[in-house]
Amino acid sequence: MFKMLKQISEELSLISSKTALLFFAYIFLAILEGITDGIGVGLLTSFITNLSQDGSKSIEFFKQTYSFLPDFIFSSEKIICIIIVGLFFLRIFVVMLTANFKCILPQMLTYRVRNKILERTFSLSLFDIEQERAGMIINLLTTDSAKMTQCLFSMIELTYLIILVSMYLIIMIMINKFIFGIGILAAFPFVLAIRLLTILLTRMSKKLLKMRNEITSNCTEKLNNIRFIKSIGTEYQEYQNISTSYKWYRNIEIKRYFTEYFGVMMPQFFIVIGLSTVIYFTIYEGGIYKSYITLYVLPMGFIGMRCFSIVSQINTKYMKLKQTLVSASAIVNFWNKHRIHFSFTGKKKKNVVSFPTTVQNVNFENVSFAYDKQTIIHNFSMLLEKGQPIILKGKSGSGKTTIANLLRMLIEPQSGKILLNDIPLSSFNPFSLRNGIGYVTQEAVMMYGTIRDNLLYGLDFKPEQNKIDSVLKETGCDDFISLLPNGLDTMVSEKGSNFSGGQKQRLALARILLRNPNILILDEITNNLDKKSKTDIIHAVNQLVKNRICLVITHDDEIHLDNEKYIFLG
Ligand SMILES: Nc1ncnc2c1ncn2[C@@H]1O[C@H](COP(=O)(O)OP(=O)(O)OP(=O)(O)O)[C@@H](O)[C@H]1O
Ligand SMILES: [Mg+2]
Repeated sequence: MFKMLKQISEELSLISSKTALLFFAYIFLAILEGITDGIGVGLLTSFITNLSQDGSKSIEFFKQTYSFLPDFIFSSEKIICIIIVGLFFLRIFVVMLTANFKCILPQMLTYRVRNKILERTFSLSLFDIEQERAGMIINLLTTDSAKMTQCLFSMIELTYLIILVSMYLIIMIMINKFIFGIGILAAFPFVLAIRLLTILLTRMSKKLLKMRNEITSNCTEKLNNIRFIKSIGTEYQEYQNISTSYKWYRNIEIKRYFTEYFGVMMPQFFIVIGLSTVIYFTIYEGGIYKSYITLYVLPMGFIGMRCFSIVSQINTKYMKLKQTLVSASAIVNFWNKHRIHFSFTGKKKKNVVSFPTTVQNVNFENVSFAYDKQTIIHNFSMLLEKGQPIILKGKSGSGKTTIANLLRMLIEPQSGKILLNDIPLSSFNPFSLRNGIGYVTQEAVMMYGTIRDNLLYGLDFKPEQNKIDSVLKETGCDDFISLLPNGLDTMVSEKGSNFSGGQKQRLALARILLRNPNILILDEITNNLDKKSKTDIIHAVNQLVKNRICLVITHDDEIHLDNEKYIFLG
């Protein structure tokens, strides 16, 4: 457990001077709360009960009982009253401060954990994300990261509570060592029982958490693929699968609830037994003097009750800590599995060359690539030159898209070289490289926002309206946009579901054209288009390829470009 926590805090660089300062402030508050509460409660209870008995004697009693306090406190009853009231106000202030800390600290920690996971996710290679599944990563970002910070925060809170309880115990020892000793003996079976409950609850919670993560991942994946599921007609099976998991989940949750409830009731049961014993001895047996009760037993009873509630809080925190370690281990495993491929900011030493303003050629020299030992590309060579488009053909699965991914540095070849202007691709900053390559895919990606947002996505300049208009005309988008009442400000639904495949394809092409890229890769772009749109697009592409490096991936025999060259794969 500690090894894992150590790794987490190292990964997150949690031990910064800022967090250390916060941590010490927190501890200081715990000490202050213990002192103000312990002495305040002790003084108040004994003072009030003594005043009503025998006012003149009360100060003497105090002096004997609280001999560890400075003498000036006992100079008059007024001072005692002021000190008591002062202590209580101080305590309210301290409790308010700690409450704020309890709110701020976990938020700060969660923010840090989420950023770290996001940073790692975005720096993973395409292949890793596909393997890991987006659902699992989303889980890490939402539920697990919050749980994990709870875990780290529980550690801090545990320390806080332990200090608080120690302060109370010190005050109790100062009041009366003998009663304190008996109290500790009586608390022993209670602590043991609580410990056993903790183990039981932790086991259940671990199971629950794992299960919930599985259900959420499963659900996210199924909802993401709802169109597919509906087209196959398996929605009822999927519903049943998830529902069965939820049933298991419900059953464990109920068991856990009962066990937890028992844990909450137990301290109260012990408190009632303790109080009844005191009442029995004092009232019926008359064995203990009234003054003795007021001076020792009552304040100690109050402090003892606080200790009990803190002990059970410590227990809950400890339990939470154990539970959340399940999430923490998911995150640590994720991190261990994917060491960063290149730094998120793109500043890693070897990736320093920025994308050139003009690209003359791109050369694949005996490139080989394999996914998990399954060789996809074998000794592949190709020379792409400015003004000469290459049409890449080959049967499905032959690795055409893989070649585009290699060029975009989403994956790296196992052997061979890819040169851009005779410089190895690996020397380039991957971010500026990808930004300089226009890539239009088989499935046009649309995001939530207006058509304009989608067209201008990721652009670091604002194109003139007439430039946008001419691109829309070139790609044939103006045909359907002009029919929309809100034109370019029409909202695009998630995944562009309010547009046809062909319309999305044309929008995607327009988006890339606005970037005016040096290298253009078109991957099956005419797949969803009717004859007229196809002719328009081919015409547009023909204009584009003149001053660019262009790779056209297609099955379509009707695509012909000026000065074209064919390459067949596999
Ligand atoms: N992330 C991945 N993990 C494992 N194998 C993969 C992955 N992506 C692609 N492959 C495999 O690599 C091979 C080539 O895939 P690729 O997408 O390059 O084919 P393609 O020629 O573009 O096919 P299509 O014409 O159908 O688009 C396929 O056999 C596929 O199974
Ligand atoms: Mg493909």
